[in-house]
Amino acid sequence: MKAARGSLLGIEHLKAEEISGLLGLARKMNPRKARPLLRGKRVLLLFYEASTRTRSSFEVAAQSLGAATTLVLSSGSSIEKGESLLDTAYTLRAVGADLIVVRHPNAGAPALMAAHLDIPVINAGDGMHEHPSQALLDAYTILRHKKTLKNLQVAIIGDIYHSRVARSAIHLLSKFGAKIALCGPSEFLPEVAATLAPGLRITRTAEDAVHGADVVMVLRVQKERLAGEKISLENYMSRYQMTLPRLRLAKKDALLMHPGPIIRGLELTWEVADCSQSMIVEEVHNGVPVRMAILAKALGKAS
Ligand code: CP
Repeated sequence: MKAARGSLLGIEHLKAEEISGLLGLARKMNPRKARPLLRGKRVLLLFYEASTRTRSSFEVAAQSLGAATTLVLSSGSSIEKGESLLDTAYTLRAVGADLIVVRHPNAGAPALMAAHLDIPVINAGDGMHEHPSQALLDAYTILRHKKTLKNLQVAIIGDIYHSRVARSAIHLLSKFGAKIALCGPSEFLPEVAATLAPGLRITRTAEDAVHGADVVMVLRVQKERLAGEKISLENYMSRYQMTLPRLRLAKKDALLMHPGPIIRGLELTWEVADCSQSMIVEEVHNGVPVRMAILAKALGKAS
């Protein structure tokens, strides 16, 4: 499917140079001292699913660059009356949108919009498919602490099957030569996940995944996507919850990452969430410059 120029729909089809370019641009972005590169532009934020981090940081990013922003949520909009995705997109374009940031529960919804619009569409998370801005901000965060992604040992633990964050992270980290171990019970990590990228290792114990890791990325159990699947949370926590003893199996200077929202006491303990290795707050902080770079690039104002 052809996509409107400037769209960011996923990491899978980006070249490593394009990713490096966005990360380099993000390093030059300072939300408190930004040039108004997007003055006169209108950024529409269209969210069909709940969000705190992605929504607020795209809004802060756009406004920091001088753009006007408008938020449309499925709740309280004509989406509730049955307006289709494409009719909603055409409506927002007619209102004067220069770019649409969209989060949707269905994989492929942003790509469908981008195929029918003449303005860039940015995927802010589509179902179980991709969350490209999260992968970019995570790579940005890692590279503030580690010299390179090449040969970095990354453990991704938890509900990988339902996670668009994991999918985008796997695509990005693989392109740069990271060594990735995926870990979770079979309900959350089917063997087929190993085919997402070359060289992925499937592990079934948190201890095995974390041992010697440079980065430990913990994922939330996505109860909203379980759709009737039965899972014992007690059993899950006893085997996969990130605890301090488990984290200590990683390298001393390992980074503890989580895309958020975190559920303390479920996928990680309170102590782990707040430990000195935790990047959870820094990831959110870095989301703003990274999203500034994404918006500036999409609207052709990156130079
Ligand atoms: N990481 C992330 O996408 O968080 P939100 O759902 O709060 O946007």
